[in-house]
Amino acid sequence: MNLLSAKNLSHTFDYELFSNISLDLQEGESVAIIGVSGSGKSTLLNILSTLLKPDRGSVEIFDENVSTMSKKRLWEIKRDEIGLVFQSHYLFKGFTSLENLEVAAILSKQEIDESLLKRLHIDNTLEQKVTELSGGQQQRVSIARVLTKKPRLLFVDEPTGNLDKTTANEVMNIFFEYLQKYNAGMVLVTHDEELAARCDKVYKLLNKELERVN
Ligand SMILES: Nc1ncnc2c1ncn2[C@@H]1O[C@H](COP(=O)(O)OP(=O)(O)O)[C@@H](O)[C@H]1O
Ligand SMILES: [Mg+2]
Repeated sequence: MNLLSAKNLSHTFDYELFSNISLDLQEGESVAIIGVSGSGKSTLLNILSTLLKPDRGSVEIFDENVSTMSKKRLWEIKRDEIGLVFQSHYLFKGFTSLENLEVAAILSKQEIDESLLKRLHIDNTLEQKVTELSGGQQQRVSIARVLTKKPRLLFVDEPTGNLDKTTANEVMNIFFEYLQKYNAGMVLVTHDEELAARCDKVYKLLNKELERVN
């Protein structure tokens, strides 16, 4: 079974960003998408993660077509199976780190993994309001929150932007271990070719096409 299968995607805002793009993601697999700023990487990720409807083409998750599934089924998939790690991380601002994690744990009926909090170096931030944390700490709380719900699909957009190199590598180690442990899949968007090369497959978004480069 494909976790994700996108076929012949096209999308236009002010100009056509891409056309006829197809991409599959298997269990345990990581796929990187690289490309210059403005090439449409984030737009493609929004479409793959069901946040944006493509002008043309289809997205299937667990072999179910997103555009024809019931609202209830789509909502369940978004709540339980899709993990978004985006630059705008949408933590609940008035809440502490722990409260943010608890919301995810309650909604998905999962436990908070304390060893994960230690590895992300946020176990000492739990009682602080997230607005008091640094950008890098907030980013790591949002990663912990996403992984707490144990999604089968991770969509990750420039995850290491606010992080120093050592922390960035540790965060990526956590993602790759997570994929193996839960048989999940990840689509990673990055401009960092070194980071992309750690994924099983690397594609480049260039001239409106998605070309396999590694
Ligand atoms: N919601 C939107 N409405 C209009 N234009 C958009 C929207 N989102 C992105 N764009 C435009 O689409 C182009 C590609 O953006 P984006 O997908 O964010 O590229 P990347 O992530 O590769 O930098 C940019 O020119 C951007 O301004
Ligand atoms: Mg982007």
